[in-house]
Amino acid sequence: MSEMNSKFSPIAVELEKDKKYKWCTCSHSNVQPFCDGSHKAENASPPMVFIAEEDKRAHLCTCKLTKNPPYCDGTHKL
Ligand code: FES
Repeated sequence: MSEMNSKFSPIAVELEKDKKYKWCTCSHSNVQPFCDGSHKAENASPPMVFIAEEDKRAHLCTCKLTKNPPYCDGTHKL
């Protein structure tokens, strides 16, 4: 198990159909898994904006290594 990834786990959120979300890609946000604008001060990567296609409960990635952003794909366990 990777020491770097083991401290991360996905966060379950209730997504609302047609609502726009900003998923944090830089890890600096204090409101994970979403962006709080911290990337600007850190000169880090901007958020990934996505629109939920349906009302659903989803597990969003916090390790930022998923191959299927913004969703957890289990990579944090590797
Ligand atoms: S938290 Fe699971 S892949 Fe990132």
